[in-house]
Amino acid sequence: MCGIIGFIGNDALANILNGLELLEYRGYDSAGLAVRRNDEGESEIYKCQGRVSDLRKLVPSSNADFNCGIGHTRWATHGGVCDANAHPHRVGKVTLVHNGIIENYADLKEEYELEDYLVSETDTEVVAALLNKFYDGTNPKKAIKRTVKKLKGTYAFVIMFADRPNTIYAVRNVSPIVVATTEDNIILSSDPAALYKYTKEYFVLDEGTILTATKDGYTVENFDEEPVDVKMTVVDWEVSSLDKGGFPYYMAKEIFEQPSCIRRILSTYLTNDDINLGFDGKLDEALTRFNRICIVACGTALHAGLVGAHLFKKWAGMNVDVEMASEFIYSDTIVDENTLFIAVSQSGETIDTLEAMNKAKRAGALCVAVLNVRGSSISRVADYTLYTDAGPEIAVASTKAYTTQSLVFYLLALKTGMVRNRLSKEDLAKALSNLRLVPDAISAVLEQKDSIHRLAKEVITASDLFMIGRGLDYVVLMEGALKLKEISYIHSEAYASGELKHGPIALISENTPVIAAVTQEKLISKALSNVKEIKARGANVVLLAKNEFKNDFDSEYHVIGLPDLDDEYMTFPEIVALQIYSYYVSADKGLDVDKPRNLAKVVTVE
Ligand code: F6R
Repeated sequence: MCGIIGFIGNDALANILNGLELLEYRGYDSAGLAVRRNDEGESEIYKCQGRVSDLRKLVPSSNADFNCGIGHTRWATHGGVCDANAHPHRVGKVTLVHNGIIENYADLKEEYELEDYLVSETDTEVVAALLNKFYDGTNPKKAIKRTVKKLKGTYAFVIMFADRPNTIYAVRNVSPIVVATTEDNIILSSDPAALYKYTKEYFVLDEGTILTATKDGYTVENFDEEPVDVKMTVVDWEVSSLDKGGFPYYMAKEIFEQPSCIRRILSTYLTNDDINLGFDGKLDEALTRFNRICIVACGTALHAGLVGAHLFKKWAGMNVDVEMASEFIYSDTIVDENTLFIAVSQSGETIDTLEAMNKAKRAGALCVAVLNVRGSSISRVADYTLYTDAGPEIAVASTKAYTTQSLVFYLLALKTGMVRNRLSKEDLAKALSNLRLVPDAISAVLEQKDSIHRLAKEVITASDLFMIGRGLDYVVLMEGALKLKEISYIHSEAYASGELKHGPIALISENTPVIAAVTQEKLISKALSNVKEIKARGANVVLLAKNEFKNDFDSEYHVIGLPDLDDEYMTFPEIVALQIYSYYVSADKGLDVDKPRNLAKVVTVE
């Protein structure tokens, strides 16, 4: 939550604005920046409630001579959404931007009598005032160190001092800062999305260090003033991943990227007849040892974990706990040295998931992370990280992250089944040939976008929509319902079909829209009985079914036919159909598909 940026180099204003646009998915309540000209005077601050596009209207049009600056795009935590609470905040000589939450800001305000310096309601401005108080004009790093030692909470600060031209300082705890350099520029950012335009190489600033960036380069020191080495991360994403590629929204582009994302993972992890998870077989060996599995994540990533749980049960014969990271942190779930703990996260920065992994690590569990962003915080805690390498996911609603995370679970569960002698070579061969069909199956669903669009049009005025299914269908529908509600604002819930009669069926009346999935052949007759029960009560049903059965249902229901894969693999075409459906509902309602209200792409507050 919140995107922060620092830039030293020519055309700083334009570069900061472009960078903020790329970070805007982290929060879009307000935007602001502070820029200064060659060695001259104090920086100029521009900030406002609203989007980066609103900020663009405020900044000077002739702007080429700014060569240093910081910027911020906000997801409000402390203090409402208004101009005054937008970052940067300036007190005296200090101007800074912040991502995170300072828990003891009220105590600090009182203890150091900072009230008179403050014009906003933010925790951040208190830190600016404290840093200004501690800064005596001699040593900025000393003042930063003294300040952050007083703070409780999470923070990434990018800071300028009025009397230090061409210089930016950065320090962090939990909240991330990544840094990249080119021949002409130094760029600091909350996440790599703002860096790829310049370079594919960056480093993550370590906690407990201070970065000093000038036009001549940078230094990183620990709090004892000793230089610290940085570890570079390199990605191989194309810069074109950052534009919409001709689609009206990133979400559409990301939905359509899924066949190639899946192919990429398969080519990374599959050999001719086996799964190679890497790590010189050490992870394979570890998979034989544990006796419990605990999967922890949030939102969409959690839903991928639920798919994973089904597969571990089926192929590895293991019981699995799947928990929301926010609940797990404070729960008494048993996690110990016999536990395989798996955290799933697109960003690798979700604070609850990170804290959950820290807890599991302390308890001695083997920690595996399934992540998209390389070098992210969770990867630094995990014993093993399996990357989904899906490329930047810019739309707030997750699509390609989900299918790629799910795919990694297929590979992990199959491998676990193999190393624990639950699966035979023949079982594996069959599974791999099914997995190799997935990209084309997804493409086949993408080709049906117009017919799915027609069905989506019918619900744009609906206030509620229910999704029902059994087994893996139910798990996928949970993700489908999340997709629909978060981008269309239609209240949507998934129910296990067998549970309907225990309460939820009371919600069904004439014309209630329901999406029913019946892709699991062994459950089909039971699932269909439940569909008939709600149809008898007036529900308007769209059925998700394998093509094989489409003709049987066509006369009675609107059917979205899905390619015929073995049951376990139907999760992929099924979710893609629901992603397309949700996308069109949102787009047809005229909503901002990529930036739904109140949300942010990276959730770094509990
Ligand atoms: C929904 C969505 C969120 C994220 C959740 C976890 O479309 O994107 O539910 O899945 O906030 O984020 P990561 O995967 O970054 O940990």
